[in-house]
Amino acid sequence: MKYNIAVIHGDGIGPEVVGEALKVLDTIAEKYHHEFVYTPVLAGGCAIDAVGECLPQATIDACKAADAVLLGAVGGWKWDTLPGDKRPERALLGLRKELELFANIRPAMLFDALADACPLKPEIVEGGLDIVVVRELTGGIYFGERGTKDTELGLAAYDVEQYAEEEVKRIAVTAFDMAMKRNKKVTSVDKANVLESSRLWRRVVTEVAKDYPEVTLEHLYIDNAAMQLVRNPKQFDVIVTGNIFGDILSDEASMITGSIGMLPSASLAKGNFGMYEPVHGSAPDIAGQDKANPMATILSTAMMLRYTFGLSEEADAIENAVKTVLAKGYRTPDIYTEGMTLVGTKEAGRLICAE
Ligand code: NAI
Ligand code: MG
Repeated sequence: MKYNIAVIHGDGIGPEVVGEALKVLDTIAEKYHHEFVYTPVLAGGCAIDAVGECLPQATIDACKAADAVLLGAVGGWKWDTLPGDKRPERALLGLRKELELFANIRPAMLFDALADACPLKPEIVEGGLDIVVVRELTGGIYFGERGTKDTELGLAAYDVEQYAEEEVKRIAVTAFDMAMKRNKKVTSVDKANVLESSRLWRRVVTEVAKDYPEVTLEHLYIDNAAMQLVRNPKQFDVIVTGNIFGDILSDEASMITGSIGMLPSASLAKGNFGMYEPVHGSAPDIAGQDKANPMATILSTAMMLRYTFGLSEEADAIENAVKTVLAKGYRTPDIYTEGMTLVGTKEAGRLICAE
């Protein structure tokens, strides 16, 4: 089949890691007889330099016309002195809004070969880990009413946590759909013992669960979830939660995997459309030196195949190739340990394609 992918190389190491990810996609296309059509578009600092704005309308249009978006990273020292609303990173918020990306998906995968880098005790993570955090991205306290007012205790500030039924429903559906493609378990995280918004959250998630009789649903309070994630992370498969809890939990979960160079992510809209990108930034300190780890971006393309295109066999092939390359002892500098074989960005990409 033919798939259209808008490609935002971006700044810093973005073009380097995206370059390797496209080689991996080309390898998949050849082996499984698909056609991936890439439309390169500008966003971030390179767009500011070329056309004077970080997110040109042409980029938004091309992304909307595509089946999925692959993004490297944006930003860098060169643009750090620009005022906040003119900076390259604004392109990310603009893309989320324009493309209506309401679900942020961050897997925390621990590869056996990298178990050394995991801060948890070996017996807790034995056999590896594979958790996905599904975070609501466009609602909750980060988008609620905010302000200040005078009180008897001095100036007060407030931010409102608010969720509407439809907002909870769509993120719950995303999580349950994902669970159906995985191990059929969802843990919904809230603070329903205290927050009214969490009680609505819990009620709606429970209703959505009725459409997925094969999936086991469990509810946890956020404080307990944060604790369980380090105490016994293997109990989790898909975690679904609101914007602020998800922000914190996804960072906590990601630390289990060791390096930021290994972490992929997806931001999904209705109808399986998604934007896929590594969790890391543009790493200006190592840009242009063939030192960046391309695996986070390569694993992001695996997520694209799995979640937007429904190509799970192909996605497995990419993830297994990454695992094999690691198991054979190849390491980019960020995950290098003594006795391993040090490789650069391009060589890491080539090895993954070969596998
Ligand atoms: P960063 O993630 O770019 O770098 C943090 C540290 O991790 C650096 O030492 C870097 O060398 C290392 N690192 C990151 N990715 C790596 C990879 N693939 N392989 C090996 N090492 C890697 O975060 P930082 O330094 O805070 O931000 C740099 C720029 O990126 C800033 O302009 C920031 O605003 C932007 N940024 C962009 C994001 C995006 O496009 N989604 C996300 C985060 C930051
Ligand atoms: Mg965060």
